[in-house]
Amino acid sequence: MCGIIGCVGRGDETLDTLVHGLSKLEYRGYDSAGVALANDHIDLCKHSGKIADLREALSDRTLSGSVGIGHTRWSTHGPPTDENAHPHQDCTGDVAVVHNGIIENYQSLRDELVGAGHTFTSDTDTEVVPHLIEDALSSGADPEDAVRETVDRLEGSYAVAVVIAGCDSVFAARNDSPLVLGIDDDATYLASDVPAFRDFTDKVVYLADGEFARLNGAGWTVTDTDGNIIEKDIDTVQWDPEETGKSGYDHFMLKEIHEQPRALRQCLRGRVDELAGTVDIGDLGDLSPTGVQFVACGTSYHAALHGAQLFREAGIPAQAFLASEYATATPPIGDALVVGVTQSGETADTLSALRAARRRGARTLAVTNVVGSTAARECDHALYIRAGPEIGVAATKTFASQLAALNLLALGTSSTGDARQVISALRDLPGHVQEVLDESAAQEVAELYQDASAYFFIGRGYQNPVALEGALKMKEITYKHAEGFAAGELKHGPLALVTENTPVFAIVTGDDERARKTIGNVKEVEARDAPVVAITDGQSDVERYADHVLHIPETHPRAAAVLANTHLQLVSYHTAALLGRNIDKPRNLAKSVTVE
Ligand code: AGP
Repeated sequence: MCGIIGCVGRGDETLDTLVHGLSKLEYRGYDSAGVALANDHIDLCKHSGKIADLREALSDRTLSGSVGIGHTRWSTHGPPTDENAHPHQDCTGDVAVVHNGIIENYQSLRDELVGAGHTFTSDTDTEVVPHLIEDALSSGADPEDAVRETVDRLEGSYAVAVVIAGCDSVFAARNDSPLVLGIDDDATYLASDVPAFRDFTDKVVYLADGEFARLNGAGWTVTDTDGNIIEKDIDTVQWDPEETGKSGYDHFMLKEIHEQPRALRQCLRGRVDELAGTVDIGDLGDLSPTGVQFVACGTSYHAALHGAQLFREAGIPAQAFLASEYATATPPIGDALVVGVTQSGETADTLSALRAARRRGARTLAVTNVVGSTAARECDHALYIRAGPEIGVAATKTFASQLAALNLLALGTSSTGDARQVISALRDLPGHVQEVLDESAAQEVAELYQDASAYFFIGRGYQNPVALEGALKMKEITYKHAEGFAAGELKHGPLALVTENTPVFAIVTGDDERARKTIGNVKEVEARDAPVVAITDGQSDVERYADHVLHIPETHPRAAAVLANTHLQLVSYHTAALLGRNIDKPRNLAKSVTVE
């Protein structure tokens, strides 16, 4: 995790530019933050806590220099203290380094450096980097060679940025951690993610693993490990800077929940032909998989469960795996496709599973939100969900867009009897989500049950992943116990947890056998005095057994999953708001989890 930034060419505004960029990257980690500016020496300030704490620490400091780096941390090695905050320095104080990732051989490097007389001041793996650079410089290497030699010795995942006293450049390298350059006429930026510099430029260059960048007053160069120049494409970012502001909402999460209709329209635009009953998902070619394995984590895993069900329904064997457990999966057979569902495209567990799939000879597809992300670049194919940037740590609009994109994928690569109904439900989906947003009674439900001791969520079929997602959202932003179950599983153990103080959210759509069985499960919890909140399209009589009802418009069960989930997002959001939680940055979490 962690967010890094660097910039040259901003003159007196260098410090402000770095701190502004860090504020845009805070979703990647908020345990500590720091900046370093290079002039004939290094001016550095860092602090545990959020960017606001760094700003406070900077208020009585003068840092000068027009070449700088910054960092916001999500702890991996060592607790979130001032000492462990980045940037880290060498013994002379002339080298400053920020790093995202994990240096796997840091212990042996550290032992070697300590043996050679270096003094360490932090618990981090990162600190070996400035000391190695210090050694290389003292052996006579010029700054660029010193950084290159050091990077060559690192094993593991890293995006590093380095400044050195008396040198006009920022040096950067990446392996398995994201790094992107921002290109402007007079200034150049580097960062873990585009929002860090999007207010200044929309021109970007995505670095690949093994590439090395040098930014200075003359511009920027990207080279390979041997120092050969690599000609890189300059891409233009398609979204506006305002898309990463809160637009009047109290939290990014609420804004992003309300952006779902637009996100869904973007996902579907130009991809469905309702008249013909067909979908066009671009240049993916003829995938025609004989089987599909999904790999994903967290919310994206819940979307993957939905995706696997879509393919099974179309008669294609499909399974969803937690990416971190994929190593134990049966290898993909024949012409199977392995699909990584990942909002960020940078989740280490998912990337690792996709790489394992490639090693096993499978074709891979990334279903992702981030163009140019590692998953998109490494997979054979990429299908973009087009949700726009998501800043809140809790995934909301991207889940809705993942479900829509996976429906497009299933429709585009397999045949299903009710394609026309699904396409028409997808067409109606943005408007239906808007109806839910306009009319949801989620806030009243949240007010009634904010003191509950636990929350349970149940659903069958397409509503089972929604139950799991409802519980994940509730626990991550309210810090309260919540669990989601396949409705039929409740009676096999979890029912023992059900009391009058544990509201049960039951998602019941349609009026088929599944709905009737779920209503049977609702009666079981009702008999144990649990309050029941039904999320329903009103087709069944579940309302008779529910204490509260959250209505969704009648639609295809696949689309109903998105609608039911919208209510549950709002219930979690309002509960967390009532409890005064840090909704956009829940404790211990980060938006993009780039460690395994
Ligand atoms: C959920 O709200 C979280 N943000 C988390 O579970 C997330 O979905 C997971 O870490 C996977 O992230 P990805 O989609 O970027 O791969």
